[in-house]
Amino acid sequence: MAKPVSIEVWNPSGKYRVVSTKPMPGTRWINLLIQNDVRLEICTEKKTILSVEDIIALIGDKCDGVIGQLTEDWGEELFSALSKAGGKAFSNMAVGYNNVDVDAANKYGVAVGNTPGVLTETTAELAASLTLAAARRIVEADEFMRAGLYDGWLPHLFVGNLLKGQTVGVIGAGRIGSAYARMMVEGFKMNLIYYDLYQSTRLEKFVTAYAAFLKANGETPVTWKRAATMDEVLQEADIISLHPVLDKTTYHLVNKERLAKMKKEAILINCSRGPVIDEAALVEHLKHNPMFRVGLDVFEEEPYMKPGLAELKNAIVVPHIASASKVIIINPNPYIKKFRY
Ligand code: GLV
Repeated sequence: MAKPVSIEVWNPSGKYRVVSTKPMPGTRWINLLIQNDVRLEICTEKKTILSVEDIIALIGDKCDGVIGQLTEDWGEELFSALSKAGGKAFSNMAVGYNNVDVDAANKYGVAVGNTPGVLTETTAELAASLTLAAARRIVEADEFMRAGLYDGWLPHLFVGNLLKGQTVGVIGAGRIGSAYARMMVEGFKMNLIYYDLYQSTRLEKFVTAYAAFLKANGETPVTWKRAATMDEVLQEADIISLHPVLDKTTYHLVNKERLAKMKKEAILINCSRGPVIDEAALVEHLKHNPMFRVGLDVFEEEPYMKPGLAELKNAIVVPHIASASKVIIINPNPYIKKFRY
C-alpha cells in the first residue's frame, strides 16, 4: 500500500488529525475524538496486517496521533515518522505492548497508551473457556458428533479431567492471571499454586476467605501456595495458565526442558503472547504425550502455527480472541425509568 486508498473520514474540519489504522468496535471512541476537535481518519483497507511502510503512508505529513494495533511494529521508523508529522501520542489497542519500542517512543517524544483493566475479565474468561474445553475434550467431542460417529452412550466415551480438587497453576499473577485464578478456585474448587515476582496478597486473601467459607459449610477447603520458582508450579499443577508479559526474560519461558517437568496429563493454557512458549518444542511434546493437552489463543509467529500443531487432537487453537467480547447492555427497567425521568 504505497498510498492508502481506503480511508473513512470523520469530522473533516477538525483541528487535530488522528489516524486509526483499523476500524474498531463501537462509536464511543469516535464521538470522544470528535468532541475533542479531531479529524479522524480510519484506514479501512482489506489487508489484515499493515506494514511499517503502509503506516508511514497513513501518517503522512501532518498527524497528531495514531491509534494502532498489536499486529504492527511500532519501533524507531514509525515513531520517527510520527514525530516528524508533529505527532505527540500513540495508543495501542491492546494491553500487551511487546510490539511497541517504548525507548524509541521516548526518544521521539511520543506518549504511549495501552488498554489495561478493560481486558482483564475477557482474557481470564477465555483462558477459563480453553481450560474447560481442553479438560472436557469439547472440541474433539464436537467433531465426533458432526462426523456422525455417535452411535450411543458409552461409559468410556470422551472421558476428560475433573477440575474439582485439582491444582491450578498460574504463572504471572497480575490483573489477568489473578482474575483467572479466582475464577478457577471459586468456580471449580481448585487449589492454587502461583508464581510471580511479586506477592499477590489480594489473591491469597481471596483464596483464604473462600477456604473458610467452604470449611464452614462442611466442604473441603481450597488451598493456595506461592511458589518459589516457576518449575515448582510446572511440577505440581494439573492445569497451568501463562500470564506473563512478553519481553527478553519471558521469551520461550516454556521450552522443551520445562515441558518435560510437567505432569503427563497436565493442561497448558496460553492467552498471553505466543513466543512465551517454544511452539516447535510444544508440538513435539504433544505428539509424544497424547494425554497432555494445550489451549492456545496466541502463537509464536502469528498468524501462522508451527507445522504439525493443527493436526493434533490434544491441541485446541483459537485465533487470538481473548479480548473479543462485548458488554451486553441490558435495557433499563421501564418502571424505574418512569420515576427517574
Ligand atoms: C491482546 O492480546 C491484548 O494484549 O490486548
